[in-house]
Amino acid sequence: MKVYFFNVAPWEREFLEKNLKDISPELVEDKLSDENAGKYADAEIISVFVGSSVSRDVMDKMPNLKMIATRSTGFDHIDLEAAAERGIVVSNVPYYGENTVAEHAFALLLAVARKIFQSYERTEKFDFDYTGLTGVDLKGKTLGVIGMGHIGQYSARIGNGFGMKVIAYDIYHNEELAKEIGFEYVENLDELLERSDFITLHAPYNEHTHHMINMENVKKIKRGAILVNTARGALVETEALIWALENGILSGAGLDVLEGEPEIKEEWEIISKDFDKEQMKTLIMNHVLIERDDVIITPHNAFNTKEAIERILQTTKDNIDAYLGGNPQNVVKAKK
Ligand code: NAI
Repeated sequence: MKVYFFNVAPWEREFLEKNLKDISPELVEDKLSDENAGKYADAEIISVFVGSSVSRDVMDKMPNLKMIATRSTGFDHIDLEAAAERGIVVSNVPYYGENTVAEHAFALLLAVARKIFQSYERTEKFDFDYTGLTGVDLKGKTLGVIGMGHIGQYSARIGNGFGMKVIAYDIYHNEELAKEIGFEYVENLDELLERSDFITLHAPYNEHTHHMINMENVKKIKRGAILVNTARGALVETEALIWALENGILSGAGLDVLEGEPEIKEEWEIISKDFDKEQMKTLIMNHVLIERDDVIITPHNAFNTKEAIERILQTTKDNIDAYLGGNPQNVVKAKK
């Protein structure tokens, strides 16, 4: 069985070399893309991370491909329909870091709410003046969680720990869970935007959630709120985010994800790739966000703790073993 692991980071190598001896995968540092897929035409099982794109074209270039094990929860970088047409099994890692991502969301929230970055920049210059560094309390405020799944639930628990009132918008309601954790479901997204002092996004990205915060509803956000996005960049229309910051609707934002993220990681691609007008606009607007003092951006790093990485790799190994044993697990499929 020819197995390739793409996007392999140095810290993953040790685990993979030690624990995947029996399938001896080839560890590739590069991410998988249309451009390099042809080099791995003999692949039968591949493991990728979110930077890779497993498109229809990539699958065409790997005619023996039988299984894709993504080392992530999100799977929007894989064309599930194309995989289903080819009988390719796709497995993800559903629960490796619900606390990990939620903790990062709060790191971002606290950093923005308490102006940690500006404070740090000042003391780095031996300037200990705290003028202009006044923050806001978390206690007593309302936290709006969009997507009360695995990660959202941890955010709710942490929010309660800070003494916040937690409200949630989700397409499914589980009143027992709401009682157990201590939060209240709102009827619609507008209500959450209107009531929340802090908004944290934990919904998946798909055609229904694309730009779920947009130019239309951004005006509903409570004045001075802080937005945190550790889910996917395109849940928020970048133009609407900048507009809300410019107009004081949002007092700040903490972002671990950006719209058009793969493009911004490799800007040299601008000259080598055909960018359409919309992609170019998003790219420029991301630069605007990066430059802003009221926005803190981390490089899609919310998952990145020692413990979470070990859980990801272990589940990926288990997913491949389960597939090879004839009982695939953690299988994700295209929604009809
Ligand atoms: P999950 O599947 O457990 O929860 C998602 C929740 O969103 C569910 O309760 C679902 O009902 C809800 N939902 C679905 N569509 C919705 C809609 N249209 N409106 C409102 N709610 C909706 O997923 P989990 O594990 O909590 O992860 C959430 C997202 O976080 C992932 O899809 C992934 O994109 C992102 N993520 C980001 C990471 C990072 O490093 N920044 C790491 C891991 C996940």
